[in-house]
Amino acid sequence: MGTVTRGTTNPNRLRRMDRWIAHALGRELRCAAEPVAVDLGYGAAPWTAVELLGRLRSAAPRVRVVGVEIEPGRVAAARPYERDGLVFRHGGFEVPVAGRPVLVRAANVLRQYDEDEVAGVWERLCARLAPADPASGGRGGLLVEGTCDEIGRRHVWVALGPEGPRTVTFAARLGSLERPSDLAERLPKALIHRNVPGEAVHAFLRDFDQAWAASAPYASYGARQRWIRAVRHLAADWPVTDGPGRWRQGEVTVRWEALAPRGRAFPG
Ligand SMILES: C[S@@+](CC[C@H](N)C(=O)[O-])C[C@H]1O[C@@H](n2cnc3c(N)ncnc32)[C@H](O)[C@@H]1O
Repeated sequence: MGTVTRGTTNPNRLRRMDRWIAHALGRELRCAAEPVAVDLGYGAAPWTAVELLGRLRSAAPRVRVVGVEIEPGRVAAARPYERDGLVFRHGGFEVPVAGRPVLVRAANVLRQYDEDEVAGVWERLCARLAPADPASGGRGGLLVEGTCDEIGRRHVWVALGPEGPRTVTFAARLGSLERPSDLAERLPKALIHRNVPGEAVHAFLRDFDQAWAASAPYASYGARQRWIRAVRHLAADWPVTDGPGRWRQGEVTVRWEALAPRGRAFPG
């Protein structure tokens, strides 16, 4: 289910996203009876699925990755790279794997769809995730859907649980940024057309740029110190959900509700 789109990918392109997933979802993956992670729309070469397996296994050694691609030729080309814990399957948003995966990662996939299609695709993919388990405190699986540049210096992704959208994460190689709003060009489909006055994501990026400008004196200690300082400022007015340990990596995560587009219903 879905449409074949351009297959652009690159080795190491999704390292920032992989690293965040290993941190955010490590516990769920370690505790799951069937720790299955899906790399949906891995593209013309299987690099991102191979790397996802390696990075997730360092957090959860039993994890298995299924690469899913809607273009059959790309599945055939990936098959020689199958190995212990990694298989490739032909399919789309129906997610052709048995059971309920703990992770569905869709990177640079929805960017080529219409904005109107996003809510329906999110709903379908969230319904496939491993459910929450209140008895053990488990929050269920995650859908991580977002966009980055060709070599993975600038990323923005939304993380959704079985119940719907939870957070938005901005991640960058800080030396590549002139200002935080440089990340606007990598907003996921649900937000990229909303970077206009009157929308929350526009106000957020404006405030982030102001916090960055106010933190300019810290630039002499390096871009990382300046970013940490700017996020600290930002957290006074915006619901930042993470802390200095993540900011140090050039990340910041904010609650979805604070950035959600006006006048559009999403699952949850
Ligand atoms: C731009 S590539 C992204 C590759 C890789 N995820 C990355 O970020 O480097 C997008 C891929 O998603 C695939 N795709 C698009 N819609 C899909 C769907 N509904 N299900 C599975 N794959 C899909 C396209 O065929 C294409 O190969």
